[in-house]
Amino acid sequence: MQDVTFDVGRGEIVGIAGESGSGKSSLALTLLRLLPRYAVVERGRVLLDGEDLLAMGEDDLRRIRGAKMSYVPQASMNALDPVFTVGDQLAEAVLAHRDVGREEALRAAAELLDEVGVGRDRLGSYPHELSGGQRQRVAIAMALINSPELVILDEPTTALDVIVQAQILRLLEDLRARHNMGMILITHDLSVIAELADTVIIYYGGRVVERAPAVELYRNPLHPYTQALLKAFPDVRARRQRFSFLPGSPPNLADPPPGCPFHPRCPYAFDRCRTEVPRLREVSPGHWVACHLVRGDADGRADLREGPEGVLPVLQGAAEQDNRHQAIREGGRRREHGHRPRRGGRARRRDRQR
Ligand SMILES: Nc1ncnc2c1ncn2[C@@H]1O[C@H](COP(=O)(O)OP(=O)(O)OP(=O)(O)O)[C@@H](O)[C@H]1O
Ligand code: SF4
Ligand SMILES: [Mg+2]
Repeated sequence: MQDVTFDVGRGEIVGIAGESGSGKSSLALTLLRLLPRYAVVERGRVLLDGEDLLAMGEDDLRRIRGAKMSYVPQASMNALDPVFTVGDQLAEAVLAHRDVGREEALRAAAELLDEVGVGRDRLGSYPHELSGGQRQRVAIAMALINSPELVILDEPTTALDVIVQAQILRLLEDLRARHNMGMILITHDLSVIAELADTVIIYYGGRVVERAPAVELYRNPLHPYTQALLKAFPDVRARRQRFSFLPGSPPNLADPPPGCPFHPRCPYAFDRCRTEVPRLREVSPGHWVACHLVRGDADGRADLREGPEGVLPVLQGAAEQDNRHQAIREGGRRREHGHRPRRGGRARRRDRQR
């Protein structure tokens, strides 16, 4: 993992997207310093309110984890302890960090269960008595119970049906607004990120390959990997479409290829890509890309003419994206206008014609 630099502000949601095996969960574990013992972080800093988590002692770290910074692990709904009730597990998380009695801890658990929509009447339930969606809400409650400043959620909606998925996304948005916490939302599903994230990071081969405000990234994806990810997202409203997929798989992160980690799969790769790692560069304000073909210029436009064959089809790809990915575009548009329009049949038809 290299060149991974980003900030998360209070009340901001940063979405990290990449396909399976790109190293997203390992990044989360690195931020939390929960990597297995054999994994070594050679350099870098993880600053939370100015304190470097990678440099602090275990006791200080324990004080922060679960309190100031918390984590909803991948498949967390299956990770609740089966032999304790939901109330006991939530209360335990309070007692580990706050100097309160058990009664007060249970009161906090009850309030949070109400807030996440499970209901306090489930305090005495065991995890197996809850549905998958309810268990996921409990896992989120567990991460929030000590009012953290930053929450890292790893695939919080994977394995849930689309209705429950939408409910969980609404819940996260409400919680963010109410508690003003920063969130890092990790997922392989770009539509999840389109719904919620303010900033999107595209992660590949243990590197950030593109980073931009969400609306900008969906409108103007510049990295060939980002474009391929967006193209692989089917538009359920289109009449007919040719499915696009990206052949191959992400590199072995223990032995990545030289040069650009995407070069074995990139349709635009040229000699330089096989030897030189592209650095992440700001190509327009707030829009960062790591690709030899994408070069920034001072007035904020991305210039794509650096490749060996003159103007490359990357730009056309971007325009095409804009017409194809209705669901993603709507997610971006909602955030752009700060509201959630309900689009009727006529508006949808108009969108299709654009
Ligand atoms: N920096 C690294 N160095 C060596 N191996 C790594 C590194 N980062 C991740 N790996 C290994 O690569 C594999 C995939 O990583 P990880 O589980 O983090 O991917 P992921 O993007 O979360 O995948 P999924 O979407 O399937 O959950 C794991 O076996 C992990 O141990
Ligand atoms: S640097 Fe080269 S291989 Fe990597 S994404 Fe850009 S064009 Fe493709
Ligand atoms: Mg993962």
